[in-house]
Amino acid sequence: MEPIRVAVVGTGNIARLHAEALRQLGEEVRLVGAVDTDPGRLSAFCDRHDVPARHSDLASLLEKERPELVHVCTPPGSHHELALGCLRAGANVLVEKPPTLNLGQLDELAEAEQRYGATLSTVFQHRFGTGALRLRALLDAGVLGRPMMAVCHTTWFRPQSYFDVEWRGRWDTEGGGPTMGHGIHQMDLLCAILGDWAEVSALARQQARRSETEDLSMAHVSFANGAVASVVNSLLSIREESYLRFDFERATVELTHLYGYGDDDWRITPAPEYSEEVLAAWRTGAAGVRSGHRAQFAEVVRSLRAGTPPPVTSAETRRTMRLVAGVYASAFARRPVRPDELGEDSPFYRRMQGDRPRW
Ligand SMILES: NC(=O)c1ccc[n+]([C@@H]2O[C@H](COP(=O)([O-])OP(=O)(O)OC[C@H]3O[C@@H](n4cnc5c(N)ncnc54)[C@H](O)[C@@H]3O)[C@@H](O)[C@H]2O)c1
Repeated sequence: MEPIRVAVVGTGNIARLHAEALRQLGEEVRLVGAVDTDPGRLSAFCDRHDVPARHSDLASLLEKERPELVHVCTPPGSHHELALGCLRAGANVLVEKPPTLNLGQLDELAEAEQRYGATLSTVFQHRFGTGALRLRALLDAGVLGRPMMAVCHTTWFRPQSYFDVEWRGRWDTEGGGPTMGHGIHQMDLLCAILGDWAEVSALARQQARRSETEDLSMAHVSFANGAVASVVNSLLSIREESYLRFDFERATVELTHLYGYGDDDWRITPAPEYSEEVLAAWRTGAAGVRSGHRAQFAEVVRSLRAGTPPPVTSAETRRTMRLVAGVYASAFARRPVRPDELGEDSPFYRRMQGDRPRW
């Protein structure tokens, strides 16, 4: 079987992880080319990862290298244009989070998928560790009972100097603060487990950092299945943690990590009367794979070979992005928001900050 021809656009910090994860997939994939507008970064990346073709613009890479899959690893403000360029050329796109600056751009890319017959998927690597897969399987099998309550906390720390990078902390280049840029990982996993959300009430604050966006948001989210979640997205938390907790009828399941988890980062506490059944199912479930880029890329490759849309599809991405938009809409409009209020006529559809980021 021929390796899948992969290219990378944007050769900065996260691209290094992409290249390393691709290398770990061995003969399944070949990194055939890279693009960066910064020649120094481009050549350092290509030298380090043995990338044969280097290009200063996407169009020339698409034309000359004909990749089947392009990883978009540039700052968020450029994702929409670059992903659209790839789809138009018939290349599948795997875009780093956040996939676009807003819902409108995401919908345009979903339309382009249909028109040009190529796929868009988003890097949300925490769906792919075996702990999350096992939790989802137990929930689907009815072992855990009904989900009632969840906690989804991204309490991270970024000093003021973090915002020295010119694209950070700005609505037009990053699309938001920790809700859009950091907590989105945990919110995506929350949605992957609990499904469609029905209403969100939120606040957003500029507590300490000088930036255009929030440095803290807090929300409570109701899900269609009746569960309610508390969501916190912070860049101010000196003891850092990513924490998810799910209280089901028959067990509490917790995940504590920072930027990636293994099986040991999960804890399950069954209700005494269901202890044997729940623990037996948990022990025999999927195991052994850490969350991370490699785990997601392996699934992307599997899907491309099978001719099915790679995870996380644009439709799945949309649910998470709509929750992000819902947090901002509720915080800035100061009222609860439902997903169906975030359509084309909403000010929060084209701009996460809507028309009133009032602090
Ligand atoms: N999944 C994760 O866990 C994770 C972690 C960190 C960052 N990210 C995401 O990865 C993306 C990149 O972040 P980063 O920290 O690597 O950024 P970075 O600034 O380190 O690197 C971005 C690179 O893109 C290049 N670039 C900018 N515009 C370009 C264009 N139009 N065409 C070609 N190259 C261009 C820059 O020159 C730079 O080399 C962001 O969307 C970020 O949110 C994801």
